[in-house]
Amino acid sequence: MSRKAMCAVPPMGWNSWNTFTENINEDLVKETVDSMKEQGFLEAGYEYVVMDDCWSLRERDSEGKLVADPEKFPNGIKALADYIHAKGFKFGMYSCCGTRTCANYPGSFEHEFEDAKQFARWGVDYLKYDNCFKPQNQDGRTLYRRMGMALANSGRDIVFSACQWGTDSVHEWIRSSGAHLFRSTEDINDSWHSIKDIALSQLDKQAFSGSYCHNDMDMLVVGMYGKGGNEYISAGGCTDEEYQTHFSLWAMMNSPLMIGCDIRKINDATKKILLNQDIIAINQDIECRSPFQLNCVSNSIDTFVLVKFLSNGDIAVGMFNLGDVPAMVTVDFWDMGLTAGSGRGLEFYDCIKHENIGVKKEIFSETVAAHGSKVYRCKMV
Ligand code: GLA
Repeated sequence: MSRKAMCAVPPMGWNSWNTFTENINEDLVKETVDSMKEQGFLEAGYEYVVMDDCWSLRERDSEGKLVADPEKFPNGIKALADYIHAKGFKFGMYSCCGTRTCANYPGSFEHEFEDAKQFARWGVDYLKYDNCFKPQNQDGRTLYRRMGMALANSGRDIVFSACQWGTDSVHEWIRSSGAHLFRSTEDINDSWHSIKDIALSQLDKQAFSGSYCHNDMDMLVVGMYGKGGNEYISAGGCTDEEYQTHFSLWAMMNSPLMIGCDIRKINDATKKILLNQDIIAINQDIECRSPFQLNCVSNSIDTFVLVKFLSNGDIAVGMFNLGDVPAMVTVDFWDMGLTAGSGRGLEFYDCIKHENIGVKKEIFSETVAAHGSKVYRCKMV
């Protein structure tokens, strides 16, 4: 068996849940794959196509096997996996560590080893593993380790996407389970509040995320504009400025980038955000260094700066204004370790406008829009 190290950097792809919830089927997944390919998403790095909850029948068959809903998937799961692979993508599916999934389909509790083999036979490359209906007396650590072992010995390379919502201090032990990514928060919804709350809740957890096991801040809501699959997810939608900030934060904080909108109906503003190669390159940097936070005393309380050292010596700088009015944000180079006495400066490249803005020394200040962000890639000169 070829077992290789997977997810050196955060995985990228698309997940059906945010927009489609239970309304998934073979045609939708195929159309999404085609559309991702045509619009350059695969080339940009979005390789995993993940079908979330609600793909199976409500009960297992008489042999205890999971069965795909034949109305939603008339040609079966293997045929769909083959289609996805033929287009150059990888295929993700969903199960749960409890007795039932969150939408009340069969979970993998005490079926872990046979389910992992079933997923491998179908050609699955990625399993999202949720946390609903976990029997009260069961320890989550044991259940996630159990599925981690089962997948690692399933006969196929399958990325293990743990979805434990940040409970039980998951960041402290999840790496030991074999998970390649771990959900660290409750479900996102398509609102500025949700984006802001998730980002703020993870600023102090950055050190726990790294190569082969990434802090998953949940699927992106970029481009959904309030069209979620249920009332909770819809939540009113966001502006393009807010979606850009969401993407900038997830990228700088090394989260997986899993698109959640309907890619078949995407507009130009959304494409511009999601296909931004300069920002994706920061997220996908091979060393996965944790970003650190700078809070220059002159900056308002609603703003902060994230700095991430990149593998070629470049420095990514993200300026974030979570407040409701525009704010001047200052980066004091001394705070990131760069002394004025060194004589060195930083050449700033704006990753959103895609332009060089020149060499700065000692400090750099910029006005950042309300709910806005700026992302720069800096070279030391
Ligand atoms: C949980 C997860 C979501 C999604 C749903 C599916 O709420 O956190 O991401 O997978 O279950 O039912």
